[in-house]
Amino acid sequence: MCGIVGYVGTTNDGTALDVVMEGLARLEYRGYDSAGVALLDGDHVETRKKSGKLANLTAELEARPLPASTTGIGHTRWATHGGPTDQNAHPHRGGKDGKLALIHNGIIENFHALKQGLLADGVEFASETDTEVVAHLVAAAYEQHRDLTTAMRAVVADLEGAFTLLAIHADQPDVVVGARRNSPLVVGLGENANYLGSDVAAFIGHTRHALELAQDQIVTITPEGATVVNFDGTPAEGKAYEVTWDAAAAEKGGYATFMEKEINDQPHAVRDTLLGRTDPEGRLILDELRISEEQLRNVDRITIVACGTAAYAGMTAKYAIEHWTRIPVEVSLAHEFRYCDPIVNERTLVVSISQSGETMDTLMAVKHARELGALTISICNTHGSTIPRESDAVLYTHAGPEIAVASTKAFLAQITASYVLGLYLAQLRGGSFADDAQSVMKELAGVPAKIETLLAQMGRVKEIAKFMADTRSVLFLGRHVGYPVAMEGALKLKELAYIHAEGFAAGELKHGPIALIEPGQPVFVVVPSPTSEHGLHGKVVSNIQEIRARGARTLVIAEEGDEAVEPFADEVIRVPATSPLLAPLLTVVPLQVFALWLSTAKGLDVDQPRNLAKSVTVE
Ligand code: M6R
Repeated sequence: MCGIVGYVGTTNDGTALDVVMEGLARLEYRGYDSAGVALLDGDHVETRKKSGKLANLTAELEARPLPASTTGIGHTRWATHGGPTDQNAHPHRGGKDGKLALIHNGIIENFHALKQGLLADGVEFASETDTEVVAHLVAAAYEQHRDLTTAMRAVVADLEGAFTLLAIHADQPDVVVGARRNSPLVVGLGENANYLGSDVAAFIGHTRHALELAQDQIVTITPEGATVVNFDGTPAEGKAYEVTWDAAAAEKGGYATFMEKEINDQPHAVRDTLLGRTDPEGRLILDELRISEEQLRNVDRITIVACGTAAYAGMTAKYAIEHWTRIPVEVSLAHEFRYCDPIVNERTLVVSISQSGETMDTLMAVKHARELGALTISICNTHGSTIPRESDAVLYTHAGPEIAVASTKAFLAQITASYVLGLYLAQLRGGSFADDAQSVMKELAGVPAKIETLLAQMGRVKEIAKFMADTRSVLFLGRHVGYPVAMEGALKLKELAYIHAEGFAAGELKHGPIALIEPGQPVFVVVPSPTSEHGLHGKVVSNIQEIRARGARTLVIAEEGDEAVEPFADEVIRVPATSPLLAPLLTVVPLQVFALWLSTAKGLDVDQPRNLAKSVTVE
């Protein structure tokens, strides 16, 4: 939540405004309630800020241009304290002379008490934000220390909550200072130019050399380099790494929206997530886990913590991991985990799943699990992010940058990575499924081609979506691994098309939800493979008949060749045949495509749905 950019360099790299605005355009998915920039101009700071999307700031800059500068910061906001107004937009100015400008991501929990102290000193506030309090505090500390890094260090000692802060001061040109606690900040290292960003997308157009910061650190960038200190003043060093993707990966690549591009990226996301995880004999090798085989063999319980789409990936993984390992798996919404007095000990493996690696709820669950002595593994898509850093080990998904707020390719990559983990545990523990690991991996390797086939035949789904633009409510049913897919389909529709949508376990229908069925009610049904065990397929076909008999319009997602659904389906959407546990990697695709085109048909903003932000860095 909130995108942050900082730049200091030479005019050779473009003006600070160009670099900062380019960074903001790439980070807008993190929040789009308002945007603003501040630049150093001689002995003063100039700011421009506007509520609404970045386009409003661009218009403001055309109307009131800023001078060329080599030092600047910029912000896109997801509002917490104070509404999305021009006044509350960042940057905020500090001090009587307004020589300091500061931007912030996160929440300062003790801002009220700090504000009372400033009010008592006669400080006047221009906004309702917690951020402005910090701006005034850093400005006052600067008056005392005459050094922005020292001033920042003095102030962060008194702050409670989660924050990334960036500041510039008119009396200290060619310097941007950043601080982070439980909130993202990465450094980009260029030639005679350096960068700060909420994530590497902020500077990917300029450099792929990055520096990861630890918690409670302050970084000072100048054109010559970056210096890191801990909050207590001791010198520190960031961890250098190379970003594995380039600017083109963070662009639409000819598609109208990022979401459409990312749906079409899914074969790559699955393929790349499988890469390098088997030896020539097909045995799984996960050296990257940095947890001993002994510790993993000892695990007697797995808890998956995640939110939203990532939690549905976790629910899907539960079926597979329990089946392959016979270890009980529980899936806990990360924001509930801490409060349910979880049963966790040193034999519990807590697996967090997060695309961004910054979701605060998930981060706090991981920290809590570690306090309780659990082993923690993070399944994550973002190198250098906080959750992997705070975990004992990480298994990266390789989906590439996901920019659209609605998660698509990350979901498939998360299922893939958690299956890889489950198969690895099965292989380690021996038992009846250890030998199957290799054949399942082989089948997984064939899934990307099946997704490609499926994507090529989505024309009818697009037509159905357009035709349903006025629909007020859609239900989704599934059983077994089809159940989380049904919930994911409903989530996509809620967040993109603002339609009432609900996903149910199909067996639950007769216990209440069937009362919702009235003539014409559209219901998607995710049908399991006819090869599923325990008569699962037949039970879902019966469920279709039950709702059809009550007037539902049935939109059935079924495997190629499954003729049993034909008599009861108003529409059949075919997916390539695959073994039941792998089916979610296919059956979710038509639901993503449906939500994309229904939202488009309604004229909504597919990539930036209302009230949301890509990375939820507040609790
Ligand atoms: O970055 P994360 O995977 O931790 O994000 C978790 C959820 O906020 C995220 O999946 C959210 O539900 C998506 N916007 C849904 O499309």
